[in-house]
Amino acid sequence: MIVLGIETSCDDTAVALVGPEGVICDVVYSQQIHQQFGGVVPELASRAHIEKVVACTTAALQRAGIEKPDAVAATAGPGLIGAVLIGFTFGKSLSIGWDVPFIGVNHLEGHLLSPLLDNPSPVFPFLSFVVSGGHTTLYLARGVGDYEILGQTIDDAAGEAYDKVARLMGHGYPGGPIVDKLAQKGDPKAIRFPRSKPKNIGKSRVAEDARRDLDMSFSGLKTAVRYHLEKTEGWVDVDVAASFQAAVVDVLIDRIKRASKKTGVNQIAIGGGVAANGEFRHRVQSLAMESFIPPRHRCTDNAAMIANVGRLRLLKGQRDLMSMQARAQWTPGQ
Ligand code: KG4
Ligand code: ZN
Repeated sequence: MIVLGIETSCDDTAVALVGPEGVICDVVYSQQIHQQFGGVVPELASRAHIEKVVACTTAALQRAGIEKPDAVAATAGPGLIGAVLIGFTFGKSLSIGWDVPFIGVNHLEGHLLSPLLDNPSPVFPFLSFVVSGGHTTLYLARGVGDYEILGQTIDDAAGEAYDKVARLMGHGYPGGPIVDKLAQKGDPKAIRFPRSKPKNIGKSRVAEDARRDLDMSFSGLKTAVRYHLEKTEGWVDVDVAASFQAAVVDVLIDRIKRASKKTGVNQIAIGGGVAANGEFRHRVQSLAMESFIPPRHRCTDNAAMIANVGRLRLLKGQRDLMSMQARAQWTPGQ
């Protein structure tokens, strides 16, 4: 069964085809228009998706040499709702026109299960850490559609912290790859930025019973970087980048180790834009665990991960109705 996946939840217009042997083709158009604004402008993102989604779909089908797939899967949320609606509605229309099943996919579930596209791939149950611009959540994946949140950020996502720190240092969007590159030349021990510890964070923000053992926070870290830049004359960008990155990655690695100890699960998969980060990838690989690290282009937003979830759900006998609604907020598995 060959599934066409469509992803338009943020600033990438992506279309891919996935079959029994894995990814057949993977087309991503990354919108450049947002760079000048220092962040994604939702209305501009929606308009750019409208302009590109048909061309991306035609390109994917041509590259694969097929006329129509056996099913269509499209991101149904979470994300910028106007942007989500473009791909979601287009996907539904294709499924009606082609008379093939439709699946509305949770974008985070796409990231969470994307390591299953690789060989070797993890087997359930495994830990999956989705670290992106909007989310930083550590899941225990027990099966397709069966996920437990072990910990998540109570404020900024890790990618958001990267973007904000890049902006504080005068760089453009997205800031993650820029800080990653600067950090390679800096000293990670130059400045001691704070690391959020589990349990003693977020007392004022998240009710006691809503907090999880393995929650994390990145907003204080971002503020610490801001203070450093304000107070230090002649601050060194590569050292700030490396020290900030060391603090982020220390927290992520700490939660993975604690999660493995807590659950007894020894497989860790990562996904989301920050999983493209060199230091994070290296530290995950160095853990005394079985690690599953997708190639960089499959960590950032793509449609192969959406087609993958669609395919897995179809193989379980599931499909969605045309009455399905897109959702701005949506916890995977719910
Ligand atoms: O998963 P993604 O492409 O989109 C969302 O669903 O959010 O993640 C984008 C985020 C941005 O915050 C970007 O700065 C960050 O991932 N990012 C990185 C790197 N590449 C992208 N952060 C750190 N290091 C990178 N190499
Ligand atoms: Zn994403």
